[in-house]
Amino acid sequence: MSAKICVAGSVNLDLVVRCGHLPVAGETVLGNGFAKYPGGKGANQALAARRLGADVSLIACVGKDEEADQALALLKADGVDLSMCRATEDAPTGVALIAVEPGGDNQIVVASGANACLSVDDLPDRIEGALIGQLETPLPVLDAALERCPGLSCVNLAPAIDVPDSLLGRIDVIAVNETEGAIYGLDRLHRSGGMTALTLGARGAVLLSDGQEIARAVPPHVEAVDATGAGDTFVAALTVALVEGAEPGKALDFACRAGALSTLTRGAQTSFPRRTDVDRMPSGAPHG
Ligand code: RIB
Ligand code: NA
Repeated sequence: MSAKICVAGSVNLDLVVRCGHLPVAGETVLGNGFAKYPGGKGANQALAARRLGADVSLIACVGKDEEADQALALLKADGVDLSMCRATEDAPTGVALIAVEPGGDNQIVVASGANACLSVDDLPDRIEGALIGQLETPLPVLDAALERCPGLSCVNLAPAIDVPDSLLGRIDVIAVNETEGAIYGLDRLHRSGGMTALTLGARGAVLLSDGQEIARAVPPHVEAVDATGAGDTFVAALTVALVEGAEPGKALDFACRAGALSTLTRGAQTSFPRRTDVDRMPSGAPHG
């Protein structure tokens, strides 16, 4: 049976410029190759989970504009349930300004737009299956969603913002990258009671429980061209595998392989792998 997953979170249209190097403050950089891609961490997590075989619904808010159609196109095409995705007159669809350098690293600034209009009233009384979240929509909505979800919850604490301990305490699996881990403080995350999945970029990921490492996985070596959405793919894949009953080490390995595959082509959602691609992908060898 396929995993049942509900994602509450953001939908953005990504405006992406490729450039020779990422600008520092005050610097102007000439880029090339402008493109628009569907994005937003919530929508990305939803599509990634769907492509890995889960039955997925997305709770989100978009504007009543052309950007919304573009942003939701792949979710529709792949059969994500959008019946809880609301269109508002009050704000435009969220957009993300993204610069990507040749090694695949990026810089992202998000104009939240309609994502900021998502409200507790958009949530069902009870969330069936597992819940995936991130921090691009209002915190009270995530808090209420966690409260209404008796199943497994996995939250990517990105972007790093101020989050109360009470909310952290409701999360089963907290996912952060190294930068976010340093901002929140890993000790604080461990004390919240759930598991912590710490991603290490090309070096893979570690799963910790009570601050103790319980699993470590290394992705296969890939020539990354665009890492946008790799974190979202990782979180979705980890959740799908855990809901399917995989043991933590296997779930982490699956998530690392899916994340690595998502860096091979440009854009976020456009690059997300399907189940068969991930199953065929070998694990990486531990670095010496
Ligand atoms: O995690 C990648 C995503 O972050 C992009 O798609 C962008 O929209 C921002 O939300
Ligand atoms: Na990508």
